[in-house]
Amino acid sequence: MGSSRHSRRRVLGLGAAAGAAAVVGGTVPWLASTDETGRLQPSGLPLPAHFRVPLPVPPVLRPERNGDVDRYEITQRVATVEFLPGVPTTIWGYDGRFPGPTIVSRSGRTTVVNHRNELPVPTAVHLHGGHTPADSDGYPTDLVLPTGAAAPYPASHPDPEAHTTIGAREYRYPLQQRAATLWYHDHRMDFTGPSIWRGLAGFHLVRDAEELALPLPDGDRDIPLMIVDRSFASDGSLLYPSLDRALHHRPGTTERYRQGVLGDVILVNGAAWPALEVDAVRYRFRLLNASNARRYRLSLDPPAPGGIVQIGSDGGLLERPVRHTVLDIAPGERFDVVIDFGGYPVGQAVTVRNLLGAGSTRDVVRFHVARKAVDESGLPDRLSTVERLDPRSARRTRNLVFGNAQDHTWTINGHHFSTARADITTALGDVEIWRFATDFHHPIHLHLVHFQVLARNSTGPGAYDGGWKDTVNLRPAERISVIARFSDYPGRYLFHCHNLEHEDMAMMANVRVG
Ligand code: C2O
Ligand code: CU
Ligand code: CU
Repeated sequence: MGSSRHSRRRVLGLGAAAGAAAVVGGTVPWLASTDETGRLQPSGLPLPAHFRVPLPVPPVLRPERNGDVDRYEITQRVATVEFLPGVPTTIWGYDGRFPGPTIVSRSGRTTVVNHRNELPVPTAVHLHGGHTPADSDGYPTDLVLPTGAAAPYPASHPDPEAHTTIGAREYRYPLQQRAATLWYHDHRMDFTGPSIWRGLAGFHLVRDAEELALPLPDGDRDIPLMIVDRSFASDGSLLYPSLDRALHHRPGTTERYRQGVLGDVILVNGAAWPALEVDAVRYRFRLLNASNARRYRLSLDPPAPGGIVQIGSDGGLLERPVRHTVLDIAPGERFDVVIDFGGYPVGQAVTVRNLLGAGSTRDVVRFHVARKAVDESGLPDRLSTVERLDPRSARRTRNLVFGNAQDHTWTINGHHFSTARADITTALGDVEIWRFATDFHHPIHLHLVHFQVLARNSTGPGAYDGGWKDTVNLRPAERISVIARFSDYPGRYLFHCHNLEHEDMAMMANVRVG
């Protein structure tokens, strides 16, 4: 695309913004050589045929309503599920399921979730994308010890500031934020990778009046899709190369997997390569890459005549729809997209493929266009207003380098994570510009607030950088600058790589706000 830089700027609203969504994306040649961040762990049993099982949709949890507060109860427990047809697998799940139940909140209504921990290990629950006071953000040492556990739990990171509880903990989310696709997941110190791998992840959607007023597809045509890769041992158990299989004391993976653990089975909403019957109309899909380390480049086969239309990113609606031919999604990122199956003939099978995958990981999910139907949805040319943070309002600019230490642990500005060090201190309300650089591949995630990408290398934001983000896909030898405003809640927050093996191997930093 000769004029790609130009059209890209336009689509992202940096220049003149008239007209319909332009096509961005396409293949990025330099990525082809760095497809895999991590190492594939082959499953020990035969893998099932693809697209034979129906796509599950996680149930929406019912709150107990009380004035302005919605209360939920979730129990974290061991359960047995069937990821592969006929093969029982033990998981750690929120309410015993994977994905956990979906919470749907209304922006501005406080959501309280009481998490009970009936697992054999401590946990910490983080609402990823939540604008959350520090004491409910799931700081990794704010542990919920198992019911009946004796405190103090022997901690690998003694932390005088930690606030642990036994058996349960109430998390409070004011949700003073835009409609967006958030997710909740475990964030236990040193063991986030294996805990999420075992199943501790779920969706938390926030809706607001602005979004509800749009004619976007909704109801059972608004479907969250949690994409992960997993591997299975010959007995059907989840395979993860932990040094301590019980996940009690020694963190980390065996040497081979320090760069990331990749599986050969793709699960969408907890089913291996599922299929969904769709009407020949528009659907909204909330894509979440909840994989530990795997990145995907999603494409439709055959391509949708209208493309994959992005309407939202991590932090909610874009200003205008952006049409992609392929969609790159790194761990932790969300993309809200609309696909119009009305452009296909009835009877068409449409396969979502992962162009970065090989063999079994090239397939993701399949849609069967089953019948014609009335489409009452619309895709407006204008979705929302995105306030643009002004670089001139930035109080400071920081450089953050994501590195690899000799011992195969990971660093930020040369440091391993320590609960005791404030790596970044900022005042409440300050705007800052952060410049990221690396020689490897890291999805960079910030808690508390969303940011905007100002630049990727020497050009403007990339095709997938639009809107408010909380996770950005930093690729080898790239530089990205982002701008954020640290508003509303003081306290200690995290900033880290969302490759979970990197995160567990010290690639985190503290942001002290206020
Ligand atoms: Cu999704 Cu600090 O994490
Ligand atoms: Cu987060
Ligand atoms: Cu990383």
